[in-house]
Amino acid sequence: MSKPLRVTLLAIAASAAAASAFAAPDAAPVGDPKVATTQDGKYFDAAGNPTYKIAPNGQVDWYTFSGYRRFNGTCETCHGFDGSGSSFAPDLTQSLKTIGYDDFQKIVINGKQSVNTAESLVMPAFGDNKNVMCYLDDIYVYLRARSDGALGSGRPPSNEAKPKTAIANENDCMGP
Ligand code: HEC
Repeated sequence: MSKPLRVTLLAIAASAAAASAFAAPDAAPVGDPKVATTQDGKYFDAAGNPTYKIAPNGQVDWYTFSGYRRFNGTCETCHGFDGSGSSFAPDLTQSLKTIGYDDFQKIVINGKQSVNTAESLVMPAFGDNKNVMCYLDDIYVYLRARSDGALGSGRPPSNEAKPKTAIANENDCMGP
């Protein structure tokens, strides 16, 4: 009799711990977006997280451009054009100032809910959606550029060519 109850309480404690992981992210989760390393047209910051590269003439790296297209294909319905928010979902150009790469991935893969007496907000889980999962870094660097104010609203004026690695990874990830 006492055993199932104990298991239930442990499960509740575990899910409370998982929920607070989103509520209290690391002290400095976002980091400096400055490019530190490059691998075949993909850019990384000093912490090794993906970042954007924007030339003085406005030309963006491939992944930022791809993220712009993917975001506005799937996330825009709730988060507004170019991430600027709507009555259903938060302004991601603000959220990404404090949500770092790891937490961003967790939220998009698992979803997120704030359900209380004042509000009922549900972010769906996209972990099974290849159109999102295969482009998660692309969407991240696009939103990172938007939240830093490095990229305005609308289609970037031009973009770097699609890297060979991006073509190969996309084929592997999306499958036949
Ligand atoms: C059906 C509507 C909907 C769609 C589509 C959607 N979201 Fe969300 N999203 C939400 C809601 C609502 C929240 C707020 C959840 C909460 O506060 O608990 C949210 C929260 C988030 C957050 C956390 C923001 C914060 O300030 O805590 C991120 C990051 C995010 N969404 C990214 C995305 C990305 C990337 C996509 C596209 C792959 C996407 N969302 C698609 C509704 C949506």
